[in-house]
Amino acid sequence: MDLLKQLNWRYATKRMTGEKIPPEKLERITEAIRLSASGFGLQPYQLLVIEDEELKRRIRPIAFQQPQIEESSHLLVFAAWDQVTAERIDEYLDLIVKTRGVPAESLEAFRNVMLGWMKSKSPDQNFQWTSKQTYIALGSGIVAAAMEGVDATPMEGFQPAALDEILNLKEKGLRSISLLALGYRDSANDSTLNRAKVRRAGEDFFIRYRSVPV
Ligand SMILES: Cc1cc2nc3c(=O)[nH]c(=O)nc-3n(C[C@H](O)[C@H](O)[C@H](O)COP(=O)(O)O)c2cc1C
Repeated sequence: MDLLKQLNWRYATKRMTGEKIPPEKLERITEAIRLSASGFGLQPYQLLVIEDEELKRRIRPIAFQQPQIEESSHLLVFAAWDQVTAERIDEYLDLIVKTRGVPAESLEAFRNVMLGWMKSKSPDQNFQWTSKQTYIALGSGIVAAAMEGVDATPMEGFQPAALDEILNLKEKGLRSISLLALGYRDSANDSTLNRAKVRRAGEDFFIRYRSVPV
């Protein structure tokens, strides 16, 4: 599929049919999210994949009753680490050692960079950083869904503390940041379906620095 054609096709879908996405499409979308770039490569978040209808029903009221929560095939939750910690950094380094077959000592300088960076942040700045990383993954999910011809709604319109409670995220050291409802548009009932996409024109949006021929 053509990338720009699909980015024009997609929209933040307000009503979905409840039809299920084929497993292989779900797999490709979640895999694209897993492959997202992240600062230091730390992936300081988890992806929760919710298919359970009862759970979706419980989430809808704390998400301003948005229908696509329940009408989705799957509801993805992007949950950031509540903090980058030395333990989490060391788990990541263990994974590098295992994946690349390099000695742990060869990563000592990298370890010190990450620990030094971590110590320079307040707990609040630390969490702000992990939460920002989740948006890169959210973006990957939006684009991947479009490429699979699957509708998707990114959402910040929910109460994170209430969702954390429902999903027991605190005990997992996580905090919910955003949602991505995946499914199929309900063309008969979604009044936003045919709205023209509103984006600033290129001449207003891009600031170009061109070299001037001499
Ligand atoms: C981080 C983020 C949070 C959003 N939250 C919501 C939301 O809670 N509910 C909703 O219907 N749309 C939500 N949107 C969708 C935006 O309103 C939508 O992407 C924007 O208006 C552009 O329109 P389009 O995506 O349909 O092209 C969100 C989008 C992003 C990127």
